Amino acid sequence: MKIAIIGSNGQLGYDLRRILSSQQIPPMAGSTQVASLPSAERRQIIPLTHQDIEIANTEMVNNILGEIRPNIVINTAAYHRVEDCEIEYNKAFTVNAIGARNLAQTCQRFGATLVHISTDYVFDGKKGEPYVEEDVPNPLNTYGVTKLAGEYFVKNYCEKHLIVRTAGLYGIMGSRAKGGSFIDTMLNLAQERSELMVVDDQIVSPSYTLDVAKRIEELLAVQKSCSERSESNGVFHVANSGQCSWYDFASKIFEVAGLKVNIKRTSQEELRSKIKRPRYSALGSSRIQPLGLEPLRPWQEALAAYVAERKTALKTI
Ligand SMILES: NC(=O)c1ccc[n+]([C@@H]2O[C@H](COP(=O)([O-])OP(=O)(O)OC[C@H]3O[C@@H](n4cnc5c(N)ncnc54)[C@H](OP(=O)(O)O)[C@@H]3O)[C@@H](O)[C@H]2O)c1
Repeated sequence: MKIAIIGSNGQLGYDLRRILSSQQIPPMAGSTQVASLPSAERRQIIPLTHQDIEIANTEMVNNILGEIRPNIVINTAAYHRVEDCEIEYNKAFTVNAIGARNLAQTCQRFGATLVHISTDYVFDGKKGEPYVEEDVPNPLNTYGVTKLAGEYFVKNYCEKHLIVRTAGLYGIMGSRAKGGSFIDTMLNLAQERSELMVVDDQIVSPSYTLDVAKRIEELLAVQKSCSERSESNGVFHVANSGQCSWYDFASKIFEVAGLKVNIKRTSQEELRSKIKRPRYSALGSSRIQPLGLEPLRPWQEALAAYVAERKTALKTI
């Protein structure tokens, strides 16, 4: 089985490579092991970076995937600096929507499954409790609109697909587009400043890319074994359990890292942010349990595991 990972040197792409090419990492606590994909030795992982493929280029997508003929394509690529998307809206649409369309059409042509990564920013935040897959999206900014358009292209152009909405990602590689994760930013700022201001009016589900990657592997395994495709196809919300504000998250980061930092609450209004963001975008799932999967571990546990991994990685890199 051939699995192509697009954006393979990105934050999530890196952990997808680790998870899908290894069986050394045990299943997550609380997760029932369900029917599996072929063993790691029988999976061929094809990592594709931006240098290898430009998803906005229809011909290139067709040629490269036509040569590889993967059974599964996982697309982590996106134009996702939210502020820049407002200014460069053409580029945002070209990558996030047309790019997804190119992949969807090509996967359909070759009979491949497309796993497309999307975002909690497709929601407007008015619900005030965790969004599940059935909730109606209503994005507030260009990034969210273009990602939602990408979802529709995938849904309508590629029969076998998974649209994985995730949120507040952090991982050992850090986001390439954003120059690191929120955790990196907080830990770096803590060394430079005596006082930090962090927004307290945006509630999210921070998620560890290693957990998200593992869940994607599980969803693909379920899809392979499910006779009824509608149960395992379509949109899935994949985020660590629970919710917190960015202020709460920053406080916990410093606590887990053993740092004393003077941290103050602020709001989007006080920071005079010109971009509309959902005030509440925590993700829940109504589709995971019927497939025999448990919710991902709470964000506090995932954060502690990440900080421990980060310490080891910094020692070894
Ligand atoms: N980060 C978050 O907090 C967050 C939250 C919710 C959802 N998401 C979604 O999660 C996905 C992965 O995020 P991430 O944090 O792993 O991103 P990332 O670290 O920035 O990685 C994205 C990868 O995609 C590549 N790429 C970008 N544009 C491309 C294009 N046009 N064609 C081909 N490759 C391209 C990048 O390469 P270059 O860097 O070389 O361009 C990079 O390797 C994205 O779809 C994003 O919308 C992210």
